Amino acid sequence: MASIEVPPDWENLTFSAMAGVILVIGAPDTGKTTFARYLYGQLMEHHQQVGFLDGDMGQATLGPPTTMTLAMARTPSESWPPQGHRFRTFVGNISPRGHMLPTVVGAHKLVQRGSEKGATAIIYDTTGLVAAEHGGGALKRALVDLLQPDVVIGLQRGSELEHLLVPLRCSRCTRAVDRSVSGAVQRRDVAARRAHRAEQFRHAFEGSRRMEIDWSGRAVIPGPSFAHHQLVALEDARGFVLGLAIVTGRDSGRQTVELHTPVASLDGVDTVHLGDVTLDPETFRDEPL
Ligand SMILES: Nc1ncnc2c1ncn2[C@@H]1O[C@H](COP(=O)(O)OP(=O)(O)O)[C@@H](O)[C@H]1O
Ligand SMILES: [Mg+2]
Repeated sequence: MASIEVPPDWENLTFSAMAGVILVIGAPDTGKTTFARYLYGQLMEHHQQVGFLDGDMGQATLGPPTTMTLAMARTPSESWPPQGHRFRTFVGNISPRGHMLPTVVGAHKLVQRGSEKGATAIIYDTTGLVAAEHGGGALKRALVDLLQPDVVIGLQRGSELEHLLVPLRCSRCTRAVDRSVSGAVQRRDVAARRAHRAEQFRHAFEGSRRMEIDWSGRAVIPGPSFAHHQLVALEDARGFVLGLAIVTGRDSGRQTVELHTPVASLDGVDTVHLGDVTLDPETFRDEPL
């Protein structure tokens, strides 16, 4: 990523006073991820361990789309991206719309894991779903209620976040501030978003091979109805993603499914979690199921 243009009002945030969960919100293309990276650099000066939660399962930066990733910074001077522990949860779709429960539950699990691993600040870079009519208000309010962030930082061009920020400004639990959208933001159209996802998926499937799984006696969520090219997650016993896989064949009689996956071994795979998209193993183009 090119260098970050820092608007003057970003610099007057009191970074030394920020701890716990810091929620970064904003509409699509407001520079949330770039701001979150800037904040990460600042908070590294004040904390020994900082967690970065890439919570955008559409335009993901630290993992494949359909997932959310918590990355931990290992040393105070570490550069981007964080090289420490990583934990990932599966949402199963490229948008939180219609998938709010795995979004909220996943965020909670990742924040909890980050705290257990010693992060004293966790920056949560969220999706651009903020519009009240699409459930953005309900989603962000649920996240605030559950995660009790120390501060919510909103990047807004107009008043699109006011429905979220006004009540928070009166709250004694969570502080709310808004900051400018940088003039350097480059908007991404639908084609650019799709291309970004394909690139992230391609990276995640590097080194993949064929693997057959006997699904009888294994946890399959929500059930063993595998579709051609359906995207699935192979999860450990705590519900964290070991790797993604694409369904390339099934044999109902033998109760087996053939997968294209970078996961090398079934050891540690507790659950096969079906997603709501298909993924072409050649082009890495995703489509709704
Ligand atoms: N402050 C900034 N300085 C330089 N480039 C920026 C800045 N903010 C955003 N951009 C660029 O604009 C694009 C979209 O920004 P991003 O942070 O990914 O937005 P969002 O997370 O809200 O979708 C990226 O290519 C990013 O590099
Ligand atoms: Mg982003």
